[in-house]
Amino acid sequence: MSTIQKRFTGKKVLVTGGAGFVGANLVRQLIREGAAVTVLDDFFTGRLDNLRGLDGQYSLVQGSVADPFLVQELVGKSEIVIHAAARNIIASTRNPFEDFNTNIGGTLNVLMAARSAGAERVIYTSSASVYGNPRYLPINENDSISLLTPYAVSKFAGEGYCQAFYESYGVPVAVVRYSNVFGLGQDPHNPYCGVVSKFMSSVAGDEAPCIHGDGQQTRDFCYVEDTVEATLLAALSPKAEGEVFNIATGVETSVNNLVNMILTLYESPVKPVYIDRRDIDNIRRRVLNIEKIRRALRWTPSFTLQEGLRRTRVWLESPGSTPTSGK
Ligand SMILES: NC(=O)c1ccc[n+]([C@@H]2O[C@H](COP(=O)([O-])OP(=O)(O)OC[C@H]3O[C@@H](n4cnc5c(N)ncnc54)[C@H](O)[C@@H]3O)[C@@H](O)[C@H]2O)c1
Repeated sequence: MSTIQKRFTGKKVLVTGGAGFVGANLVRQLIREGAAVTVLDDFFTGRLDNLRGLDGQYSLVQGSVADPFLVQELVGKSEIVIHAAARNIIASTRNPFEDFNTNIGGTLNVLMAARSAGAERVIYTSSASVYGNPRYLPINENDSISLLTPYAVSKFAGEGYCQAFYESYGVPVAVVRYSNVFGLGQDPHNPYCGVVSKFMSSVAGDEAPCIHGDGQQTRDFCYVEDTVEATLLAALSPKAEGEVFNIATGVETSVNNLVNMILTLYESPVKPVYIDRRDIDNIRRRVLNIEKIRRALRWTPSFTLQEGLRRTRVWLESPGSTPTSGK
């Protein structure tokens, strides 16, 4: 049996968006590692259920990152801030102004508060959406940025503020750019990667999975436990300060391949059906270069897509259980 490292013992960590998919997985691991965690969430897409089994082990504050006074108070009581609160791409496309308030205004609030409180580290969770349709693959951190959605604009604006606060005021920030995260706790309605659990629920119910477009679009699917570990390393390592890291696997997978893997996992004879492409599916290919984080933080993904899918299936089939680390 492996022993859990207690890298965060006694550390006061604020996780904004901590009731969301990635946020709740971060909270769970931080608690395992001894952190005193506070969650700030307005439950826009977050759910208390994501934090099931952790009652009494963390503090919950229901409120918005767009509230500067609340953010000031909570950041003031924390040593590390992991800023994962955001309006997602669907909400953002519907209402860019709300996205602006949360994704840009909320990030500015976090950084202003971190500056005045002298936070030890701020982690900003950005997105590979900022690369748009890349000219070269795999995508490096310093490749060109192409902002094709209001969501990409707001996530990149947040990054810009992080860089500016690091350069102008010395706020110790690190930016992690996630690709498509999937796994335990994932809501099938999550627009980034809800696709994995959507396909799984269809296949489990002997229904045909619906693929938007021709299925040749590719993504870089990263299992959530790997994403969490990379984020926590960025929160701890002095080498992460002021840096931007891709968090992904470096493996390009088409949606057709993903569906085939799920059909194989379930030994299902059903055939996928193809439907219209959605507005938010305007990225044709995506795979990220992860050499930078591999070298700087010695992080490398531990789970293959097949293994991540297998674990996600186990979790989906036991809804009463809470996510646990198999590592
Ligand atoms: N999941 C992915 O594949 C992915 C990919 C790229 C980037 N990201 C980034 O990772 C972070 C977490 O994403 P996720 O997949 O967990 O999404 P999620 O929607 O599950 O989590 C976001 C959380 O933020 C909360 N929130 C939204 N607006 C808020 C506000 N104004 N104040 C306080 N809380 C608020 C939501 O209620 C939710 O709990 C986000 O910053 C997102 O942009 C995720």
